[in-house]
Amino acid sequence: MKIFLKSSICFLMMSIFNAQAQNSLVFDSSKFVELSQEVNGKLLKVRAYENIVYVANPVEANFQKLNIYVPEEYFNGEKINGFTVETAPIFFPNKVGGYMPAMPATFINPPQRGPFGGNNQSILLALSKGYIVASAGARGRTSPTGKAPAGLVDLKAAIRYLKFNDKLMAGDAHKIISNGTSAGGAMSTLLGATANHPDYEPYLKALGAATATDDIFAVSAYCPIINLENADMAYEWQFNKIHNYKKMIFSNVNGEFKREMKDGTLDAESINVSDKLKKAFPAYVNSLNLKDNEGKKLELDGNGDGNFKELVMSYILASAQKAISTGVDLSKVDFIEIKDGKVISVDFDKYMTYMERMKTPPAFDALDNSSPENQVFGTATVDKRHFTNFAIQQTASDPSTLAESLQIKMMNPINYIGDAQAKTAKHWRVRHGAKDKDTGFAVPVILVTTLKNKGFNIDFALPWDKPHSGDYDLEELFIWTDSICK
Ligand code: DHB
Repeated sequence: MKIFLKSSICFLMMSIFNAQAQNSLVFDSSKFVELSQEVNGKLLKVRAYENIVYVANPVEANFQKLNIYVPEEYFNGEKINGFTVETAPIFFPNKVGGYMPAMPATFINPPQRGPFGGNNQSILLALSKGYIVASAGARGRTSPTGKAPAGLVDLKAAIRYLKFNDKLMAGDAHKIISNGTSAGGAMSTLLGATANHPDYEPYLKALGAATATDDIFAVSAYCPIINLENADMAYEWQFNKIHNYKKMIFSNVNGEFKREMKDGTLDAESINVSDKLKKAFPAYVNSLNLKDNEGKKLELDGNGDGNFKELVMSYILASAQKAISTGVDLSKVDFIEIKDGKVISVDFDKYMTYMERMKTPPAFDALDNSSPENQVFGTATVDKRHFTNFAIQQTASDPSTLAESLQIKMMNPINYIGDAQAKTAKHWRVRHGAKDKDTGFAVPVILVTTLKNKGFNIDFALPWDKPHSGDYDLEELFIWTDSICK
C-alpha cells in the first residue's frame, strides 16, 4: 500500500513535471511588444510576438522558436496593399545558411550573423507591403540532434503551428510563402515539395508538433543547394574542363558561420573523379523523363550534349539578353555572340572559364567526408557520412558509412514532386545567379522543369552576373507574391 502510494505520488509529480515541460501550442495574442523603425522614409510599426517555441517537446528550444510580426495598421481595421488583417498572406523567411543551425529573422536587425549576414530587408519590405511575417529558427548539422531531416522538420513544425493557430492570429495561413537562400533556399523548396508527406510524421510527432497540416502556398528560393545525391555529377558535367579552383572553406568561429577562399589546381586523381562523375550525369538526366515546352524528352548524349544542355544555356541566353536590355554592356565579352542587340549564342566552355570552378570533385559528397553536406547526413553518434554510392565505391569504404536511403530521400525535393502523398506548393519563384558556382545550373533547371512538367506555376531566372546570394531583387519578389495572392 505504502509502495503504491509512493509510486502514485511519484507518477503524479512526474505528470505535473511533464505538463510543465510541455510547451503550450496555443498562440497568445496578448503577448507582444510594439516595435517600430523607418523603412523607405516611412515609420513601420509592428506588433512583435517573439521567441515562441513552436513545438510541445523542443529538443533545442533556443533554435525551435518563431518570431511573428504584424503591421500595426491591421489592429485599427485598416487595409494595406489591399490586404486586411484576415486576408494578409504570411511571408515565412528562414535564415538557414550552410545547413547550420539558424535563429529566426528579427524585425530589429541583429549584428552580422550567418553567411548572408543579419540582413532583414526582406521582412521589412514584406511588412511595409502588408504581409504578416513569421520566421522560424531551425536546428542544423553541427549539433548531434540537428542531422537531416531535423532542420526541415523544425520548419514544418513551425508551419503547423501557424496553421493550427490560424484563427487566433492575424493573416491567412492558407497563403504562406516560404523564402530562403542557399541551404535556406533548399529548405524553402523542401517545404514546398514534401508537405504533409508521411515520411516526416514520426519526427513531427516526437517533437510534439501542432496537429495541423504543413502545406504552403508558395515557394521563393534563391540558389537552393538541393538534389545533393546527384549534384556532384551536375557539377562535373558543367565544370569538368576547368581545373583551377577557388574553393570556399566553411568554418564556424565562436558560433559565426564563415566562408574563406582557398586557391588550387585539380590533381590527376581529382580530374579522374571529375571525368567519372561527368560521364554518369547523362544517364541520370535521361532517367528523369523531363519534357521541354513542346513535350519533347530532354536528354543528354554520352558526351553530355543534347537538348537538356540547350535548355540550360537558353536560361543563360535569356539572362544575358535581359542584362543588355537594362543597359549592361556585353559587347566586349568573348563568350557571347550578339547581333543587332540580340544574343545569338553563348559558348558553354568559355562561359565556364568566365565563371571559374569553386568546388573540387565530388563537390558535395567529399571523399574525405569534409563537406558541409557530409555533416548534414550524420547521425546523433556519427558526425559525418557519405550519401552517394559513388563516394563509397571510390573510397572502398564500408557501405555502413553511407546514410540510410530514407534520410537521403527526405532531403531531396525532387523525390516528392508528383508523389500523391505530398501536397506540393502551387507557386514557385526560383532564382540562381548566372555566376553562382556553389552548385551546377542543371540543379535548379531540373527542379523547375520537374515542377513545370507537373503543371505547377513557375517563375525561374538566372540573374546576370549574380554570385551565390539571395534577396537581391526584393521589389520584383513582392510584385510576384502580390500577383499570386490577389
Ligand atoms: C551553402 C553553400 C554551399 O556551397 C553548400 O554546399 C551548402 C550550403 C550555403 O551557403 O548555405
